[in-house]
Formats: sequence, structure tokens, C-alpha cells
Amino acid sequence: MIKKLEQTTQFIQKQLEGFTPELGIILGSGLGNFAEQVENKKIISYSDIPNFPMATVKGHAGKLICGTIGQTKVAVFQGRFHYYEGHNLEDVVLPTRILAKLGTKALILTNAAGGINKDFAPGELVAITDHLNLTGNSPLIGPNPEELGVRFPDMSEAYNLELNKLLNDVANELNIPLKSGVYAGVLGPAYETPAEINMLKTLGADMVGMSTVPESIAANHAGLKVCGISCITNLAAGISKEKLSHDDVKDVANMAMEKFTKLVTTVVKKWGQSSI
Ligand code: HPA
Repeated sequence: MIKKLEQTTQFIQKQLEGFTPELGIILGSGLGNFAEQVENKKIISYSDIPNFPMATVKGHAGKLICGTIGQTKVAVFQGRFHYYEGHNLEDVVLPTRILAKLGTKALILTNAAGGINKDFAPGELVAITDHLNLTGNSPLIGPNPEELGVRFPDMSEAYNLELNKLLNDVANELNIPLKSGVYAGVLGPAYETPAEINMLKTLGADMVGMSTVPESIAANHAGLKVCGISCITNLAAGISKEKLSHDDVKDVANMAMEKFTKLVTTVVKKWGQSSI
């Protein structure tokens, strides 16, 4: 696994010709267009990257886009791997581990999520304050090569407080409504039943989705500072009478693109000038 990671990272480094990203971004379903914000781009197709699985989900493009946003040097993964696609968790977190190996210091995870909290409406953005790992699994299962991180990583600030403050400050400044909430990470790919959503609510979840948790665990393990943004694409099952579909999820995420882009672009620029 370490060999694979090194080989893949070296390939990417070679393509980047001395460019060293400082901040990583992983884009969720329907949020891929954000990558248009990157300037001085170097684009690498996942299909050209050794050891890289293919993204199979519609709405996930499968490109690594490196370049600048303002003065900040970024690496943006447009398209992520999910456990439900049949990838093992080692592959799901490969982009995250590559970011750490490339030398990034912080990671912005983004996703589409179903709203459980009654205050959340479709199209709204939520800063992730914490998560519930309900996948029954972890990317850290198995031997722990010490160069990746410690055996028992601390997760008490899995979503960095300073990064979350930056997110909220920028949202306030730009007048973009930004809520806060706990993300329940489930396996999918079936959406939840209303009874499951009731259970998640009781457990303290504000939103639910099928990604982010493995990456957050691997990123914390690797010592990256993490923040996460959920785009609420639908009310979770049973909260409204509407049936859930991936097309609706993508459509709503697309509708939120403008404010999502403004928020994340400004956060990225300001992060570059901060000491976080
Ligand atoms: N449940 C799980 N994952 C999701 C949802 C949902 O309602 N919406 C978008 N991703």
C-alpha cells in the first residue's frame, strides 16, 4: 500500500513539474464545476494516474486539477471514490493520502447530503462540525504503517475549529447563509428508510450522506486540518413525502453552485493569507 501511494504520488509530482499544492479540495456530487475557479491549471485525468480506480458515479468527472486560486496553490479532486462503488477503503482514501504526501496542510471536503435537521432546506450549505461514522468500517483497519500516522488517531477535532471559523466568517462577510451540523456517514447506495432517518436524528445527526467520513478519518490520521461543507440537496427520507433520486441531488447541487463557489473560492484565498 505504501509503495502504491509513493508510486502514484511520484507520478503526480512529475506531472506537476515542481508545483507543490498547499490545500486540497475534494468535490462532491454535482459540485464538480467548482474546478473552473482554478487558474494556471494542470489537469491530470484519473485514467492516466497509476493505481487510480475509475470514478463510476454520474456527476463525478474523474480529474485532478492543480493550480492557483488567488495566491493559494490548490489540488482539486473532481470526482471521488465511494465505498458503495465496490472500491476498498484504501482506494477511497487514496486521493486524501496523496494530498498529504504532496505536502498539503489542509483539506476541504465537500458533499451532497440529505437534510435531517428541520431547519435545513434543499440548496442550503452546512459547515460540518463533526461526524458519525455509521459505515461499520474504517480506512485505518489493518496494519498501521507509522509513516501514515499513529495507530490510534485523535478525532476530537476532526473538523478543525479555526477552519470552521474561517468558513463562517467568510459566509457572514459574503452574506451567504451557512448552517452548522453533524454529518452521518452511511454506506448507501440505497437512500435511507424513514425509520433509519429517525434513528439518525435520535443519534444527533443533522444531515446524512455516503462519503466524507473515510476521507476525514484518513486526513486526520495524516495530520491534515480538515473542514467540510455539505450541500443539502434534499430532505432526508420521511422528512418530506418526496421520493429521492440522484438526478434531483445533482440538480439541486448545481443550483447551489454559485454561492458554493463564492464561499469556497474566498475561503481558499483567505486561507492562503492565514496561518491556519
Ligand atoms: N441520503 C444519503 N446520501 C445522500 C442523500 C440522502 O438523502 N442526499 C444526498 N446524498
